[in-house]
Amino acid sequence: MSQTFTITVLPGDGIGPEVTEQAVRVLKEVEALEDVAFQFEYARLGGCAIDEDGTPLPEDTLVKARRSDAVLLGAVGGPKWDNNPAHLRPETGLLGIRKELGLYANLRPAFMLDCMVGVSSLKEEVVKGVDLMVIRELTGGLYFGEKKRYEDAQGEVASDEMIYHEYEIERIVRRAFEVARLRSKQLTSVDKANVLESSRLWRKVVERIAPEYPDVELRHQLVDSCAMELIRYPKQFDTVVTENMFGDILSDEASMLTGSIGMLPSASLADGNFGLYEPVHGSAPDIAGKGVANPTATILSAAMMLRYTFGLEKAADAIETAVHQVLNSGVRTGDIAENKAEAVGTVEMADRIIAAMKEEYVKA
Ligand code: IPM
Ligand code: MN
Repeated sequence: MSQTFTITVLPGDGIGPEVTEQAVRVLKEVEALEDVAFQFEYARLGGCAIDEDGTPLPEDTLVKARRSDAVLLGAVGGPKWDNNPAHLRPETGLLGIRKELGLYANLRPAFMLDCMVGVSSLKEEVVKGVDLMVIRELTGGLYFGEKKRYEDAQGEVASDEMIYHEYEIERIVRRAFEVARLRSKQLTSVDKANVLESSRLWRKVVERIAPEYPDVELRHQLVDSCAMELIRYPKQFDTVVTENMFGDILSDEASMLTGSIGMLPSASLADGNFGLYEPVHGSAPDIAGKGVANPTATILSAAMMLRYTFGLEKAADAIETAVHQVLNSGVRTGDIAENKAEAVGTVEMADRIIAAMKEEYVKA
């Protein structure tokens, strides 16, 4: 009897629907290759939900997501909703679903494939071989602390509270040690402990937990220095763990070490196996509907889903190997093509990846 998993698909806005469609195709191919069945349920999140349901995170979406085993998300947002008040912004839907589903551990790998070195804006010797994982705390810190807006004698005032509970730090740090253990056993914890009280608690918790992972080499680094070192000598990093806002910034920076945000996947994990998987890139409204978007990041996000939620390591490896092969063979979408005239579209890119993946299975 094959195992059945339910996947909620949230195509979202802009290029989101195009790229998720390709990832769903890849997952359907995996069904044919592994003894597993996926049931796909679609729901709305972001701008499309604001238009249809009057809210960026409809109740129906949460209900479907909660009863599924994993969520596949495209991207949310676009100029149409940019001037809306906070409760009617697509981003509010994204933050809401992270919080509601308890997705506190955000894994953002950044890797440079040899064949992509030419795409980076940095020197070859700096970026060749970069392979790191930013683990970002996703449901605490400045994003979710109390926000205030008021006036005092000097005029308008705004504040965002940076708040962390010990348990929130502990669970993300444990996840990070576990991930580091499966990589090259080197973990950098990033904070601003020379200034922020929340960072001093962060560091204390990291220090308390570290002895439980004696096989992992731990280092603390201040966030400003980390930002600098990421550009100077990125290969010194393997797994990096940090709080929400620092992680938002450092993961964008890390993505540029690879030259192409269009390639990078992410996983947002709750306790247990549940996770939401989405590309790191945004909704790219300028190219939406043109069939030229790069589906690689979403397809690699589906591979992360197979690995982290379903435990289908072989299928995940096969997709990743297929992506490397296709890129190595010179097939590129416009965002990463050196010769734009030869760029392939969204569907063809996925076709190539699927063909290479099937071949991997035949070989294995
Ligand atoms: C990200 C995005 C989001 C964030 C925005 C869209 C709210 O930048 O996933 O990194 O800041 O978390
Ligand atoms: Mn971001």
